[in-house]
Parts: sequence; C-alpha cells; structure tokens
Amino acid sequence: MHYAQITGWGKCVPPTILTNKDLTTFMDTTDEWITSRTGIKERRICHCNFSDMALVAAKQALAAANLKPTDIDLILLGALTNDSYCPNTASLVQDALGATNAASIDINSACTGFLYGLHIGTNLIRAGAHKKVLVIGGEFISHYMDWSRREVAVLFGDACGAVVLEATEEAVGLIASKIGCDAEANHAIEITNLGSAFSKTSEDFLYNGWNFEGQEVFKRAVKAMSQAAGDVLAEAGITIDQVNLVVPHQANKRILDALAKRIGIPEDKVFVNVHKYGNTSAGTIPVALTESLEENRIKPGDYVLTASFGAGLTWGAGLIRWGERTTPLTQSDAKLPPCNKTALEILAPSIQRYTQYRARTEQA
Ligand code: UT7
Repeated sequence: MHYAQITGWGKCVPPTILTNKDLTTFMDTTDEWITSRTGIKERRICHCNFSDMALVAAKQALAAANLKPTDIDLILLGALTNDSYCPNTASLVQDALGATNAASIDINSACTGFLYGLHIGTNLIRAGAHKKVLVIGGEFISHYMDWSRREVAVLFGDACGAVVLEATEEAVGLIASKIGCDAEANHAIEITNLGSAFSKTSEDFLYNGWNFEGQEVFKRAVKAMSQAAGDVLAEAGITIDQVNLVVPHQANKRILDALAKRIGIPEDKVFVNVHKYGNTSAGTIPVALTESLEENRIKPGDYVLTASFGAGLTWGAGLIRWGERTTPLTQSDAKLPPCNKTALEILAPSIQRYTQYRARTEQA
C-alpha cells in the first residue's frame, strides 16, 4: 500500500497590508466590529497576478522537499481567482516553474480548493497513478471584491500556499479524508457576473456582485466541518485526545472557537492566523500548515487534523500523520517583486468603481 507523505511546504503572503483602520477610511465599519465578529485585524493585498503568488509558494515547497520542478508529475491548483481560464492557471505555473513532466489541473471548489486537492493528490498517489504531486491553494480575491459591501469586503485577503506529496510505503501523510458538498445551500455564497450563466449584454456584467448569507454559512460550516472531522477520526481509529494540532480553514475566529468546542479539543490546540490574513480562501490551510511548521507546532509523528468549507457549499476534513521531518531540506529565496504602493493605493480604482456603481444602482 502506498501513502503520500508531505515532504515540502511553502507560502506566499503579499507584502502589502490592508488594516481594519484602512477599511474605515472608505466604508461604514469599525475595527471593533471586525475584530469582535471575526477576529481579523489585517489582510494582504496582491499587487501581481495570482500565478506569481502560486509560483513563489511552489518554489518554496519544492526547495523544502529538495526536488527539481521536473520531478513533479502532477500539479493540482485550488483557486477560483485564476489568472486565466484558458489556458488553465496550473499550466501557467507548470510553465513558469519548468515542471515539464507534470499534468496540470485547476480545481475550483473555492475555500476548500486546497483540501480537495490534497484529497485527490493523495488518493492518486495511493492508487499508484502518480508519484510526486504539487498541491497549490490560494486566492487573489481582492480582485473580485465588491468594495461597497461591508459585510463581505472586510472578511477576505490574498495569499497562496503549496505542499509537495511523495509516494512512500510508510503510513504517513493524509491517512483519512472526506470531502462533500451541501449544494442545496449553494446560494449562500455566490459571485455574480463570473461565468457563462450571466448575460454579457447586461450593463452590470463588468461588476462582480456577492450574494452572501453570513449566518447561514457560519452555521453550516461548523456543522459540516465537525461532522467530517468526526468521520475521518473514526475512519483512522484515532480519538480527538490523540490529535496534536488542528489546522483548519481560517474564515472567522468565532467559527474556529465553535469548531473546537464541538469536536472537543482545547483552543490552544487549534492553529489560528486569521487575525493576520483574513480569509484567503483556498490559501488558508497551506499557509497555516507552513506557519505551524515554522513555529514548531508540529512534531515528528504528530496527528494533524484539518477541516474546511466554502462556496458550493463544499466541505471536507482530513487527518494527517506527520512524518519524521518537520524542517525544510533546502530554502528558496523566491519572493514577489517589491511593491511601492499602499494597499489603499492598489485598491483605489476598484473602490471608486464599486462605490460609484452602488450609488448609481441604489438611485435607480
Ligand atoms: O469561507 C467561507 C466564507 N464565508 C464565511 O466565512 C462567512 C461566515 N459568516 C461569518 O463569518 C459571519 O456571519 C459574519 C462575520 C459574515 C457576520 O457576522 P454576524 O455576527 O453573523 O453579523 P450579522 O450578519 O448578523 O450582522 C450584524 C450587524 C448588522 O446590522 P443590524 O442589521 O444588526 O443593524 C449588519 O448590517 O452588523 C452589521 N454589519 C457590519 N457593521 C459594521 C455587517 N457587516 C458590518 C461591518 N461593519 N463590516
């Protein structure tokens, strides 16, 4: 029986920070509201393309595994804010990396894109179809944000992370996982004017709208993640007391607290970085996993539980048995080009467009 060990990991968080205070300069909100309802203090804004972030995270993950790009035989890229839909963005990353032996697939399941990719990549290795898989998850969500909608615009940020999976005979890596979708609630998170179902002849087509039912998503997220977590623990024959760290999707600190309570694990065993980055969609778990390792929160042989949810409403959970190595084999110096603008300067044209559009449609 093959397993799929996580042998490399990396992240790319853009350098430019958008604070809660920055948001109050153009939106009717407060640091107090955002902090108390979500735990978020700041988020990052990307000044390049999504694939630039993916490339940095991928190079770091390959360096940590000490592999060459040509060693990789499959790239799975979880994101919905792709540079391009044709060609797919995994192929852009394949080209920029020089990973010429890799098949390249985009996975669009929104926030669960990385966990879906980890599940698929692990199971393809376990079936013997692939040997070395690069799984990338991230989002350039600020590009699609409706900056006139305070209930959604304060929640998200940009970032990307990646891991390398390698075939092994040792029982490590993702040892149990479950993914699913509550499609009857797919209306609860929708980005409009992004796809062929929307009329190109409508004047609104140039503006992405968000249908977002926060409380509905909140309730369903806690329920789906805790049920899936319970199922993967049962499948692996592991009790919650044996779990060393939970590295969940970072959408809202209150969701993380509710999840911890429901699965019965102390809060100090839940990794949290939502205060620094907000919800980076498919980027949250690989970035959090990389930071858990950087902060020595994962030890050899640990059981790491992960869980996620997102638009669809897709959900999933996985139990990882960590291998012997918790430090990178080599380091990459890859990073994004410098940015000489503030976050508000990067976003100014978009904020202006959306606030003018909102004023126009509300008058009509
Ligand atoms: O990865 C999947 C992505 N989805 C999610 O993560 C969503 C999960 N849901 C949530 O995180 C929470 O439901 C939210 C953070 C989105 C909202 O928190 P809430 O405690 O459910 O607030 P609410 O929607 O009940 O709104 C309470 C009040 C409302 O005012 P009224 O009607 O009570 O007067 C809102 O208009 O807060 C108001 N409000 C705001 N006030 C200041 C909504 N957004 C803001 C804001 N600043 N940014």
